[in-house]
Amino acid sequence: MQDSSIKVYKGLEGVYVAESDICLVDGQNGKLYYRGYSIEDLAERSSYEEVCYLLLHGRLPNKTELESFKDEMREDRDLPKGVLDIIKHLAGRAHPMDIMRTAVSALPAYDKEAYDNNEGANIRKSMRIISKAASIVAAIYRFEQGEDYIEPDYELSHAANFLYMLKGEKPTDEQSRLMDRELILHAEHSSNASTFSCLVTASTLADIYAAVTAGIATLKGPLHGGADEAALKLIIAIGRKENVSSYIQNMLKNKQKIMGFGHRVYKTYDPRAKIIKEDLLNIEKKANTRIKRLIEVVLEVERETINNLSGKGIYPNMDLFSGIVYQYLGVPSNLFTPIFAASRTVGWCAHIIEYMQSSKLIRPLELYKGKRDLKYIDIDSRA
Ligand code: SDX
Repeated sequence: MQDSSIKVYKGLEGVYVAESDICLVDGQNGKLYYRGYSIEDLAERSSYEEVCYLLLHGRLPNKTELESFKDEMREDRDLPKGVLDIIKHLAGRAHPMDIMRTAVSALPAYDKEAYDNNEGANIRKSMRIISKAASIVAAIYRFEQGEDYIEPDYELSHAANFLYMLKGEKPTDEQSRLMDRELILHAEHSSNASTFSCLVTASTLADIYAAVTAGIATLKGPLHGGADEAALKLIIAIGRKENVSSYIQNMLKNKQKIMGFGHRVYKTYDPRAKIIKEDLLNIEKKANTRIKRLIEVVLEVERETINNLSGKGIYPNMDLFSGIVYQYLGVPSNLFTPIFAASRTVGWCAHIIEYMQSSKLIRPLELYKGKRDLKYIDIDSRA
């Protein structure tokens, strides 16, 4: 094929890499479906555990199935001592995403099914990864604060137990519900960069732990999962509603990306952002002055940026608002992306399992533009 007839798709923009039944991201209409169910219905009526069952098994569970799925996930919450030692040693020395990536990659050492790639083993390992990922994030926080690890509470829901292991006190129903909705909204999003990393790793027939480790590494970047932490930093840097216009105009003049805005697929409002914004407006009434100020500024940033960028199809994505909900729940900003990762473990695992059913090594081409057939000159003869 002649070079001139070859088209390079930078960033794989617009390229379909697989067929899937898991998730539809309708970027033109701002709609999102997990296994055919709208994100609005799931956020309103489901739970993170039920969404995990749906994503892994392809359908909603009946009562008995859900209860036994929840029981199995509860049993998987505990962390091996060796993993706790790793987390304790690294806490405060590296970003929580790096510690989480390292801790997850150590889990196979304690899983006798670690390298068994059959579907049943992969579903059981997925549940262990999902449950343990939340415990890992909580443990990172505790050790970073110089506090002791808190053993899981096997009575609480996944979201409530995470908050309990984080703070050492049982969360209110409102706090548990807010965290559960955040976990549902972050659970899955088709072939985003971190999920694609998982697929590339899984396509070599590496195990699911290796693939999820690749997903965590990829999610960290500020153009992807790291945008939630970056967006809050921006809101705090702006400080006051009155500063928004000049701050945003300056960023745009300097061609800076405004964190929490834009999306490769959504060219309209991210439906998840709409749901989180609703939660923010509900929180606003009872929040403290600091949170109220953050909400006031983020709403002005939303208005100003939409005014300037909606013409380019750039609207808020969920990372614009999620950080303020987490702050209301007492979660520090360096844990935002680890929580995103802990939630997304189910989406990653669902795609890994689906891809492995008809796996094909992912190995794209590069259009070579370098030199050829250069003459090798011995080192002594080189200038
Ligand atoms: C997530 O893919 C997923 O599904 C991801 C995710 C998931 O659930 O897994 O939804 C989670 O990652 C959400 C996105 C979080 N990232 C951010 O908020 C970071 C800020 N956003 C941008 O970096 C950007 O919008 C991306 C990376 C998200 C998407 O960028 P693209 O599709 O590669 O587009 P681009 O960078 O080439 O931008 C196209 C134009 C450029 O302007 P021109 O050079 O054409 O004049 O739009 C501009 C960009 O400068 N632009 C922005 C902007 N995003 C794009 N300008 C200002 N601020 C922004 N945020």
